Amino acid sequence: MTQIAIVYHSGYGHTAKVAEHVRKGAVSTGAQVDLIAIDAEGNVTDAAWETLKAADGIVFGSPTYMGSVSWQFKKFADASSKPWYTMDWKGKIAAGFTNSATLNGDKGSTIAYLALFAAQHKMLWTGTGMHPSNAKASTRDDLNNLGGYQGLLVTSPSDAGVDEMIAGDLKTAEAFGANVADVVKSVKG
Ligand SMILES: Cc1cc2nc3c(=O)[nH]c(=O)nc-3n(C[C@H](O)[C@H](O)[C@H](O)COP(=O)(O)O)c2cc1C
Repeated sequence: MTQIAIVYHSGYGHTAKVAEHVRKGAVSTGAQVDLIAIDAEGNVTDAAWETLKAADGIVFGSPTYMGSVSWQFKKFADASSKPWYTMDWKGKIAAGFTNSATLNGDKGSTIAYLALFAAQHKMLWTGTGMHPSNAKASTRDDLNNLGGYQGLLVTSPSDAGVDEMIAGDLKTAEAFGANVADVVKSVKG
């Protein structure tokens, strides 16, 4: 069975909700999916490192804080220099997502960092696999209404609670999860 790990940080719960929806989409394809939360100190458990090592594909997620990943995600990335040293993640499929308050919000920098991070591990990056919804009639309820190709983009308005996140973005997160799982399955068998 295809094994996918989603490793993410979320300071206030919004990115965690995105991760859950990415998981839902990936699970819908029959993949086995582990959600790994990077804690408030930027740590994951030893068991989580083992899960990451065993996965066929890893999806990275972080909120955009000050135009990049959160410091907790960066601490995790720095700690991954250990599996980097032994190239444990080489050849795995990688993908990424971010969530921020502003429609643009410099999310692109965060996704670019995640893709670079995957390249350092010699992973195989895959994007959203989705066309953008960018016609006059398009709305925030449409699939990929924020138009991410390289990675999944989600916007949570600054005054929106976790239960008020945009339905179209969460639907997009599910489609993204399913696409990533399909890519993992087709490459890894
Ligand atoms: C320290 C900090 C920096 C932030 N920087 C940005 C930013 O650069 N761009 C943006 O659009 N939103 C920014 N935000 C808003 C968050 O990305 C947004 O609230 C997001 O939903 C938080 O996700 P979380 O609940 O998973 O932590 C920032 C928030 C914090 C706390």
